[in-house]
Amino acid sequence: MAQPTPTRTAPSDPRPDDHVIVLFGATGDLARRKLLPGLFHLAHAGLMPEHYRVVGSAPGAHALSDEEFRTHAREAVAEFGRSKPQGEVWEAFEEALSFGAADPEDPQPLLAAVQKAEQALGGRPRRLFHLAVPPVAFSSVVQLLGDTGLAQNARVIVEKPFGTDLPSARALNATIHAVFDESRIFRIDHFLGKESVDNILALRFANGLFEPIWNRDHISHVQIDVPEQISIEGRARFFEGTGTFRDMIATHLFQIMGFVAMEPPTTLDAHALRDEKEKVFQSLRPLDPAHVVRGQYAGYRDEPGVDPHSDTETFVALRVELDNWRWAGVPFFLRSGKSLAQGRHMVTLGFREPALRMFPVDVAQSTGLRSNALVIDFDDPGSIKARFLTKEPGPAMRLEDAEMVFRYAGSYNEEHALEGYERLILDAMLGDQSLFTRSDGIERLWEAATPLLKNPPPVELYAPGSWGPDRIQQLIAPYRWSLPDHH
Ligand code: BG6
Repeated sequence: MAQPTPTRTAPSDPRPDDHVIVLFGATGDLARRKLLPGLFHLAHAGLMPEHYRVVGSAPGAHALSDEEFRTHAREAVAEFGRSKPQGEVWEAFEEALSFGAADPEDPQPLLAAVQKAEQALGGRPRRLFHLAVPPVAFSSVVQLLGDTGLAQNARVIVEKPFGTDLPSARALNATIHAVFDESRIFRIDHFLGKESVDNILALRFANGLFEPIWNRDHISHVQIDVPEQISIEGRARFFEGTGTFRDMIATHLFQIMGFVAMEPPTTLDAHALRDEKEKVFQSLRPLDPAHVVRGQYAGYRDEPGVDPHSDTETFVALRVELDNWRWAGVPFFLRSGKSLAQGRHMVTLGFREPALRMFPVDVAQSTGLRSNALVIDFDDPGSIKARFLTKEPGPAMRLEDAEMVFRYAGSYNEEHALEGYERLILDAMLGDQSLFTRSDGIERLWEAATPLLKNPPPVELYAPGSWGPDRIQQLIAPYRWSLPDHH
C-alpha cells in the first residue's frame, strides 16, 4: 500500500517509529565496515527509534548465536566506528542485537528471531530489511520476505549495483515489485547520503547567487571526478564481475550528475526531487563508446582471483551529454578508477571565458588556468571553492589565481554530521525516499549505457599511482582534467 511521502523541511530532528531492523549479510564486509558501526553511531547520536531491535541474518552455513553476533558487532564498531563500543549506550545497543539465520528452504530461525524482537518491543513496530547481500541473492531474499509474510508493514533497503544492464534491472524491479510497492523500496546509493552532496541542493536552490549562472550560457564544461588511491583490496570476485563502470559510474557518478544538472524542483519532497533527477537521466544521450576510455592498472591481472586475461576495467573516463535546454552543448566529463595518484571526490564547473580578452592571456595561462571555476569537493567533510583571477600587486597587470573557500571542517559542530550510510538508514526508517533511487531512473541509466555495454572499447593499461591512461587528455581536450590543488 502506498504511504504518504514526508517532506524534508522539518526543522528539528525527527525520530523514527519503533523498528525491528533485519540485516541480511550481517556477517559480510559492508555490515562490518559501515552498517553495524553506522547503526551504533545513530544510537549514540540519539537518532534511533525509542524502541528498536536489530536482527542479524545470513544463510545457515554462516549462522551465529546471539552472543557471537554481539561480539562480531562489538569488534566491527571498535575497528570501524566513530563512536566506541562502551558505556550505557553500547550496553543498550548490544542488548538489542540478536541473530536469526535464513535460507530459502529454512527461514524458521529468522522468523523466530523477528517474532521475539517484536514481542520484546510490543505494539506493532515497523520492519526494515537491509539487503547487504551480493546482487545474485537479492531476488531470493525478496521472495523469502514475500512468502513468509515478513514483508508486511516493512520497508526494504536494496544495495547497489541494481542490475548489470537494462534487462537484469527490469527483471529485478519486477521481482521486488511483486512483493513491495515502490513507496517501500529504498535503493541505496551511499554517495547521495554524503553531507556535501546534499549541500549541492542547498548551494544551488537556497541562494540567489549561483543558479542564474548554472547553465550553458555560463558554464563550458563540468567534471565529476572520483579517483581512488585504493586498489581492489581483495575484492577480486566482486570486481571481476562488475568493473568500474558498473561499480562507480552507473551508480555514484551518474547520481551526482543528477544533482548537479537537475532543474529546480518545486519542493524538496521525495516526489518532486526525484522527478527532476529522473528528467536529467531522460535527457542523457546514449553513451558513445568512442567517448569512453576504459583502463586497467598494470598488475591487476596478477591479483589473486583475477583472470590473467581479464578485460575488466579498473578505470573509466567518459564524456556524456545532456540533451536539454539547460545543458545542450556542455560536455560532462566523468572519471573514476582504482590505484590512482590521489583519492578525491570533486565536481568542477568550468566557466566560459569573458567575451573580451583585455588581459595578456599568456600570463593567465602560465599559472595553469585553474581559475574561473567553481569546485565542489564532496569528501567528508567537504568544501566549496570559487576560483578566479586577480591582479597581482605591482606596476604591471599580472594575473594570479585566487580563491574563496567554504570548508565544512571548522565551520560547524561536526558532531552532528552523519556518514552516508547513517543518514540514509535514518531516512529509510523515517520513510523519506528523497535520497534513494527510483526504478524508472535506474532503468533509464542502464538504457543509456546499452551502446557502451554492448561495445566496450578495449582496456588500456595505466601505471598504478598515475591519473589513468594517457588518452584521457584527448578525451577532455580542449579542456584539461583539473584538480584545483594539484598541478
Ligand atoms: C563503493 C564501491 O560503492 O564505493 C567501492 O563499491 C568504492 O569500489 C566506494 O571504493 C567508494 O566510496 P567512498 O564513500 O569511500 O568514496
